[in-house]
Amino acid sequence: MSDEKKRELRSRHWYGGTDKDGFIHRSWMKNQGFPDHAFDGRPIIGICNTWSELTPCNSHLRILAEGVKRGVWEAGGFPVEFPVSSLGETQMRPTAMLFRNLLAMDVEEAIRAYGIDGVVLLGGCDKTTPGQLMGAASVDLPTIVVSSGPMLNGKWRGKDIGSGTDVWKFSEDVRAGKMSLAEFMAAESGMSRSPGVCMTMGTATTMASVVEAMGLSLPLNAALPAVDARRMALSHMTGKRIVDMVHEDLRLSKILTKKNFENGIVANAAVGGSTNAVVHLLAIAGRAGVDLTLDDFDRVGAQVPCIVNCMPSGQYLIEDLAYAGGLPAVMNRIQDLLHADAPTVYGCPISDYYKDAEVFNDDVIRPLDNPLRKAGGIRILRGNLSPNGAVIKPSAASEHLLVHEGPAHVFETIEDMKAQIDDPDLDVTEDTILVLKGCGPKGYPGMAEVGNMPIPRRLVEKGVRDMVRISDARMSGTAFGTVVLHVSPEANAGGPLAIVKTGDRIRLDTLKGELNLMIPEAEFAQRMAAWVPPEPKWTRGYYKLYQDTVLQADKGADLDFLVGGSGSEVFRESH
Ligand code: FES
Repeated sequence: MSDEKKRELRSRHWYGGTDKDGFIHRSWMKNQGFPDHAFDGRPIIGICNTWSELTPCNSHLRILAEGVKRGVWEAGGFPVEFPVSSLGETQMRPTAMLFRNLLAMDVEEAIRAYGIDGVVLLGGCDKTTPGQLMGAASVDLPTIVVSSGPMLNGKWRGKDIGSGTDVWKFSEDVRAGKMSLAEFMAAESGMSRSPGVCMTMGTATTMASVVEAMGLSLPLNAALPAVDARRMALSHMTGKRIVDMVHEDLRLSKILTKKNFENGIVANAAVGGSTNAVVHLLAIAGRAGVDLTLDDFDRVGAQVPCIVNCMPSGQYLIEDLAYAGGLPAVMNRIQDLLHADAPTVYGCPISDYYKDAEVFNDDVIRPLDNPLRKAGGIRILRGNLSPNGAVIKPSAASEHLLVHEGPAHVFETIEDMKAQIDDPDLDVTEDTILVLKGCGPKGYPGMAEVGNMPIPRRLVEKGVRDMVRISDARMSGTAFGTVVLHVSPEANAGGPLAIVKTGDRIRLDTLKGELNLMIPEAEFAQRMAAWVPPEPKWTRGYYKLYQDTVLQADKGADLDFLVGGSGSEVFRESH
């Protein structure tokens, strides 16, 4: 490598000097046994790891990090693994989403503060992928994602069962008296049989699919099972590639273009992906300075056919998707809808990822003339109840409820809902629209995944399995139902959701993209004028920072002062 190239590397400002600072940076690193030539000017690659035993979906990431390291050494780089905070979706209270922005801050500042030239992001569980990408985008070094990969298919009593999706189904069956508690408890061991993320098309595999379609990972990253040896090989190849990306100065900002985001939206629709992708892509775009809005999801994604037959929209699991050809095969089928020339971490156009890909199972990855749903994308709903937008996932909804008008039954808080939902005298019918307030970014806080509230017990017992439900919350990517989410502004920020009363009529028209509270205009205005904002709940710590600065869902729910980036330069030394 030429001396000129060495001088160009950012890491030389840490490890290239012959002064006291250079001595200190190198000497302390050498206590790990690194030889002199590790500091000879080769690219230093940070492996940003969200490994944690409290994030079971990412518990194997230290093993994949070893694969990345092999590739980095092979390509003439120097790998250094570092931890950032991790977000265990199923383990954190009140919701992992509250801490996505905290992870993003952690990632951003760690990448900037250390003397590294490129980054490999190791994440998988729902909030870890977007949190890492948000932070990395605000620094803008060469960056590649390696995802956790899905767990092996769940197995119970000879059947495949899917993470999350079957939990919601089993739980409703227990409430309806169709499944015993003993059976319910027995199913949990069969559901989670290996390391990896939820093996349904939940938010984790949705985001991994979006990342692959955006060219931010190597091909096949999204669906290969966590324990498949090919994921270790993919990690190795990623390590090799990131070293070349540093030499090419192929930064994240060169890949986070509007075309790449639009490809991500198309892929999300084609795989029947999670509504959570909306809020995460908006937040990543905000960091990257890309003008992405809610309307782009309608414009680009709404009419895209859903061709991946995986739960919760369909019947198979992600292991099946991997064996059917994975994301390259999906992209091959929808290639006419993609920007073929969008850039990738390989430096090639995205079409190189899919042009030779084959589908090996037409029932898992459907042909375009036999899709799972003709228009599979997320729809944006606007109207007097959601002036800044709300979202619905038609592919996971009941066809007969996509256009529906009915009386509201309002729950003012999540506690209110939990206290009432099993009441045998609850005054609801299957035409009632359940409304839940106080679960948005500020209200919960953190915009929890509670929008798919349970069906009232008295209706479950009669066999009702879906109703229209509306809230300012999110919903798990593994969930299903006719569920209107992300109503913006949220109730706690003075959105019209705050003024809905039990008995008001609401009209949902998914086909037209409308959501309206059917009360007279004067009554609407009078209720809005009388609304009193709730007292701020939090007076200290991260909760207060979040409550005071979080943006609404239609802007990605980032903290307002984190939008944009600050680059990678650090002007002062530590000694
Ligand atoms: Fe971690 Fe689903 S809970 S991916």
